[in-house]
Amino acid sequence: VVTNGASVIEANSDWASRFSGIPGSPHLNNADLRVRMERLVVSALRSTPTSSPRVLEIGGGHGMITSFLLAEGASVTATEAAQARIDELRTRFADDDRVRVVDIRNEQLDPADRFDVIVAISVLHHVPDYEALVVDLIDRHLVAGGAFVSFQDPLWYPRLRRRDHVTDRLGYYLWRLTIGDLRSGIKTVMNRMRHGVTEDAAADIVEYHVVRSGVDEERLRTVLGERFGSVRIDSYWSNQLDAVSRLCTRLKLVSNFGLSATGHNARRANS
Ligand SMILES: C[S@@+](CC[C@H](N)C(=O)[O-])C[C@H]1O[C@@H](n2cnc3c(N)ncnc32)[C@H](O)[C@@H]1O
Repeated sequence: VVTNGASVIEANSDWASRFSGIPGSPHLNNADLRVRMERLVVSALRSTPTSSPRVLEIGGGHGMITSFLLAEGASVTATEAAQARIDELRTRFADDDRVRVVDIRNEQLDPADRFDVIVAISVLHHVPDYEALVVDLIDRHLVAGGAFVSFQDPLWYPRLRRRDHVTDRLGYYLWRLTIGDLRSGIKTVMNRMRHGVTEDAAADIVEYHVVRSGVDEERLRTVLGERFGSVRIDSYWSNQLDAVSRLCTRLKLVSNFGLSATGHNARRANS
């Protein structure tokens, strides 16, 4: 398993609780986005020939997506990097033998592990080398005919239209204002203006690609296009505040994307 650097993991462990689950998660809180995500995931599950798919979930968090996958008939191996989330997942699914939790700091996937679908919801933008992580897991562990699905990552900023990017940043800071975190929010912004993104600031580490350049959806399309029969990218607007989301969706602005790659054409015999 390709992992983050230790600093990312530590920052996730002690700082990121507000970013790693319900409180700051539009894809879980906003009904329209949640439906959009669930449709994408279900269509990836249904694209495989089995009715009880083996799913590798990257970054299980609080287990919200894990529960959804179980309800859809899957068994789930959930990886995690943050101690609090690992403990929470292990407690939450202690009595369910369809769930395995892998602590990526100390454990490796078994080279013999095979999955029908790999799911990465709201996680790639936390991973410094997300492309290597995705490609490595697909090449080693995804069966022929399998699928990869991701959702809730920021589109690659250099390709965004200016109005999308500016509105996205404004919406983000507006939300930060509403969570009563004004002092640390201002400090973080001032720091970034003065020194740019720094490797030892917890906020910058955890928001990794959100404060760098987003996630390069076209690069993912290319590397996944070499491995799958079909790759689909679904761009949409996302913000923690429902009213902002409704307005921006009506204005046809986009900020985030989901990706679904189906029909894995593995040439190596990994099924
Ligand atoms: C925003 S949360 C999303 C959790 C869950 N997927 C959801 O949508 O509810 C991102 C999670 O990914 C975890 N994470 C970050 N880097 C990771 C990595 N390289 N491998 C596995 N998990 C990682 C974080 O600890 C955090 O719990």
